[in-house]
Amino acid sequence: MLTTIRDIAKHVGQEVKIGGWLYNKRSSGKIQFLQLRDGTGFIQGVLVKKQVAPEIWEDAKRLTQESSVYVWGTVRSDERSATGYELDVTKLEVIQIADDYPISNKEHGIEFLMDHRHLWIRSRKQHAVLTIRAEVIRAIQNYLDTNGFSLIDPPVLTPSSCEGTTDLFHTKYFDEDAYLSQSGQLYMEAAAMAMNKVYSFGPTFRAEKSKTRRHLIEFWMIEPEMAFVEHEENLEIQEQMLTAVVKQVITNCKQELAILGRDLTKLENIEGPFPRITYDEAVAFLQKEGFPEFKWGDDFGSPHETLIANSYEKPVFITHFPTELKSFYMKPDPNRPEVCLSADLIAPEGYGEIIGSSQRIDDPILLEERYEAHDLPREAYQWYLELRKYGTVPHSGFGIGLERAVAWICGLEHVRETIPFPRMLNRMYP
Ligand code: 4AD
Ligand code: MG
Repeated sequence: MLTTIRDIAKHVGQEVKIGGWLYNKRSSGKIQFLQLRDGTGFIQGVLVKKQVAPEIWEDAKRLTQESSVYVWGTVRSDERSATGYELDVTKLEVIQIADDYPISNKEHGIEFLMDHRHLWIRSRKQHAVLTIRAEVIRAIQNYLDTNGFSLIDPPVLTPSSCEGTTDLFHTKYFDEDAYLSQSGQLYMEAAAMAMNKVYSFGPTFRAEKSKTRRHLIEFWMIEPEMAFVEHEENLEIQEQMLTAVVKQVITNCKQELAILGRDLTKLENIEGPFPRITYDEAVAFLQKEGFPEFKWGDDFGSPHETLIANSYEKPVFITHFPTELKSFYMKPDPNRPEVCLSADLIAPEGYGEIIGSSQRIDDPILLEERYEAHDLPREAYQWYLELRKYGTVPHSGFGIGLERAVAWICGLEHVRETIPFPRMLNRMYP
């Protein structure tokens, strides 16, 4: 049976067999140092010429970058090694000598790396990002699963839109028109009336022509939806969830965060409550701090979000956006209907909006008025209206963009490295 590098600490002093790939190597003539990876971790194998059979020594010399091998050796703890352990290699079996590998340790341009994404994900940094992504998913699901939420899967093929029609991917559903889902929220509201607290976790499609470091065409979103939860409690749940996620990543991904050079002090103080400012206050702040032309009713772009976020060490909620600026389903503030019970959570360090949230309209008459105002086809949204006719209750929810959250936690320049195979404005390959 194979031992994984992840579990190597349990085998100090023992002979193990691992299956892996050669990441890099160097040799002193008498000793070969093989940098090995097996997908669960990285370890240095040490091969001493005098101590192994001549054919083993020769096989090791033939290994090219990314050659696949089985390696036998004794695990030794070594404080000088980044991972804490080394393998004294006793035997080696070549599975394949790899062709000339296109990605070397020298600098490559981003387009080249993106064209080789299927290989690039093997590299140490990309491996660390994908490991953290998996941990973020685990942490979010762990929080939701242990706090009374049921996982519900909304459809991906939909007859109508949730967030507005301009950026939908159109397709055919036999003879009918269909769209790829841009949010499962409307279905999650139905699910919340059946199951109380629910969440979805699925792919989301936005045919936006945006080419920024925060935009993907296909991304993954987690969308909790909660019956009997109002605006304030909605924000508290987001705070608790994000606090738990960051803590779990810091605990379980120390090595990966170190590989990425992430400044841990920036993550360690992420703990609720997060600061809150209203849209009104944000506008006044922007007008004073360098955007005098910004008007009430305008939407924030990334320079605005960054300026606001830079005033805080923690994520900040911007609440009570103008009702007209936001989606049709957001509940207007009963005391001041021109703003709605909404909040965007802006991550620190210029990562922008990572969560969009709101309390939903629960009054059927008001919802019908919003259909009129937004010119929504009645028939397509009839089922959504019915949720308000058969035992309507106050309810709220939010959507967290997985890739933006991972980019922030990892401290990455661009969301393209947070998803295994990014779909972007000019890229669908590989
Ligand atoms: O703010 P959005 O559009 O909200 C919704 O879709 C709601 N229906 C969610 C809900 O209340 N259930 O998107 C939510 C989050 C954003 O805050 C952002 O993190 C992410 O999804 N997001 C994107 N991430 C990557 N690329 C894009 N093009 C994104 N658009 C939104
Ligand atoms: Mg939003």
